[in-house]
Amino acid sequence: MSKQGAEARAAKLRQQLEQANHRYYVLDAPSLSDAEYDRLFSELQQLEAAHPQLRTPDSPTQRVGAAPSKEFAAVRHLQPMQSLRKCDNAAELEDFDRRVRETLVRDNIDYVAEPKLDGLAVSLIYEHGSLVRGATRGDGSTGEDITANLRTIRQIPLRLHGKAVPLLEVRGEVYLPLQGFRRMVDEALGRGDKPPVNPRNAAAGSLRQLDPTVTARRPLAFYAYGIGAHEGWTRPPLHSQVLQHLHDCSFPVSELIEIVQGTPGCLAYFERIGKLRAKLPFDIDGVVFKLDDLAGREELGSVSREPRWACAYKFAAEEAQTRVENIEFQVGRTGTLTPVARLAVVFVGGANVSNATLHNMDEVARKDVRVGDTVLVRRAGDVIPEVVAVVLADDAERSAHAARPQLLPPSACPVCGGHVERIAGEVALRCTNGLSCRAQLHGALIHFVSRKAMDIEGLGEKLLAQLIEEALVRSPADIYAKEKVNAATLAGLERMGEKSAENVVAAIDRSRATQFARFLYALGIPDVGESTAAALAQHFRTLEALLDAAARDILHEKAQKKVAEARRVEEQQTGKKIKKNAAERLPPLPELQAVPDVGPNVAVSIANFLVEPRNRAVIEALVAPIESGGCGIHWPAPTAAAGDALAGKSFVITGTLADLSREQAAALIEAQGGRVVGSVSAKTDYLLAGTAAGSKLAKAEKLGVAVISLEQLRALIDNPLSLSPSG
Ligand code: IVH
Repeated sequence: MSKQGAEARAAKLRQQLEQANHRYYVLDAPSLSDAEYDRLFSELQQLEAAHPQLRTPDSPTQRVGAAPSKEFAAVRHLQPMQSLRKCDNAAELEDFDRRVRETLVRDNIDYVAEPKLDGLAVSLIYEHGSLVRGATRGDGSTGEDITANLRTIRQIPLRLHGKAVPLLEVRGEVYLPLQGFRRMVDEALGRGDKPPVNPRNAAAGSLRQLDPTVTARRPLAFYAYGIGAHEGWTRPPLHSQVLQHLHDCSFPVSELIEIVQGTPGCLAYFERIGKLRAKLPFDIDGVVFKLDDLAGREELGSVSREPRWACAYKFAAEEAQTRVENIEFQVGRTGTLTPVARLAVVFVGGANVSNATLHNMDEVARKDVRVGDTVLVRRAGDVIPEVVAVVLADDAERSAHAARPQLLPPSACPVCGGHVERIAGEVALRCTNGLSCRAQLHGALIHFVSRKAMDIEGLGEKLLAQLIEEALVRSPADIYAKEKVNAATLAGLERMGEKSAENVVAAIDRSRATQFARFLYALGIPDVGESTAAALAQHFRTLEALLDAAARDILHEKAQKKVAEARRVEEQQTGKKIKKNAAERLPPLPELQAVPDVGPNVAVSIANFLVEPRNRAVIEALVAPIESGGCGIHWPAPTAAAGDALAGKSFVITGTLADLSREQAAALIEAQGGRVVGSVSAKTDYLLAGTAAGSKLAKAEKLGVAVISLEQLRALIDNPLSLSPSG
């Protein structure tokens, strides 16, 4: 065949195969028999083999075939992929609708109502009609390049139907239909593997395969729901028209989509879909309402990555009944013992559930759950399933329940046999063995290496478990001990090659250079999450300052208790009430509680953790320089600029500040050496006033105290001479 002849024939075959694909996978109306399809397909394959220049990436023969990759490259989205604000009830939906009406000054609003598919959002980039890149949502700004995997999904066209434009970004949801999910579960059970927990996780796992031939075997599906970036294409005025365009380009668009009017229309749609839900061949977790008018969307804009023109209305949590087969205690990274009910497997909220949390012993007692009971289990979205209540339908069940033994709190840790105590003022039971308890050590290490903590890539749960098993690692500091964890010892572990061992070592080395806040978060102090760690770092600026403050706070608390005790004794002896002195009136742990977000309980957690000798030893080892046998973890020194811009100045804060809470503003002032006081007097230097400032503002004005905005406060910090109190 001539070159031109081959080219023309290939084009014809491609067009026929694409159309057949579309009719089969999208329209559900096959136009060719399987045999006919196979014949055309192999003819195209042969043509491409004879004329390799004809084998373009958008050919139907190229869906599967890319070589496995080592990792997914990061891709920056052309436009951010936002998330949806949630409405939990009719009143919140009404609020959402009212805001839209008020902003657009219209009485009645048309919304496009769509099912909310429980899968993964993806972005598909088409250049001149060809699929060139596909990515996950990631954090909304940057996702992962999973082009090779997305190409294997038959419902995603490799070439768009109709007129090709330079750029069209299609967005939609990749999901796993229930039938496919059940097949994956059966196959996993057949192999003796752990089955996927729900369709969403199964879809996510399938898309994150490095080898696209694995993805190709997973029965993934796709629905398009929007267009992102585009060039050479004129956007129509309505979202419903965009959906029509997607349909015309040969994308599957949900048939359940409707245009509805106002809150009543939205609620009626929600009801209708709720009734259909159980009969749908795929999982949905709610519905989405989107303003149809695209110009109106621009007027509404977004708040914190959530557009004001759309909202997700989720179905209430689902419940089901099953039997409690056993109750066990799980030991978390801080030693907390959580009672967990082992259940007869039950399908609830779109997943097979075999474990449900009982939270703590108080909850066990309140619900009086006993092994053998029939219980109501609830699961909502991604949250951990929980036991809601014991079901006692009749007298027989009641007496059977009464005959079962009550669950007693364990006297020893089920993992290490260590002493268990109930922390004063808390409901939780805790194993007191710290890092000597394997469960706590494992949990602490997983947390320590995690992305938002020390971010040691490649050091996963299983590897850490092996390092513990081999007694190579007994504390986070051991990770950095070269005589314990090195390329040779790592390569000796299961499923570790030499190359990956070297990568892990390199990742450990890289992690030494970190940030103070990350380091604090990594320590796994109970109750200290990312934001509290950041607040502590910001407030104390150095590790020494924090450790000293914790030590002083503990001393202060002890002294306070002594004084209080002495006062009580004296009151008893004299029969008279004695006034508390100044020290006793201070809050306990005053220095830690001065940090925004740190209340009395969190302050206790932090102080106890930081003064505990074993923890102290680990912290010291982590930050000691390598030369002196330490781990060498370090971070940039606090900048000198922050510190004393507001030294000696007193501030009163009033009203609502634009983007900070009052506590945060106070922390900002204090970090710069300023003082925050409660009431305005002639001695006050500045009144920091937000909106709706009341009597304090009036008083400041009367006394001639300088009134400044948050913006002016920031200017003052940047340049302390920029404002003078009198001006
Ligand atoms: S629109 C700002 N439409 O829900 C618009 N999202 O919370 C954002 N989702 O990540 C997306 N069905 O994974 C949209 N019909 C639908 C959807 C949908 C499911 C998911 C999607 C997204 C998340 C947003």
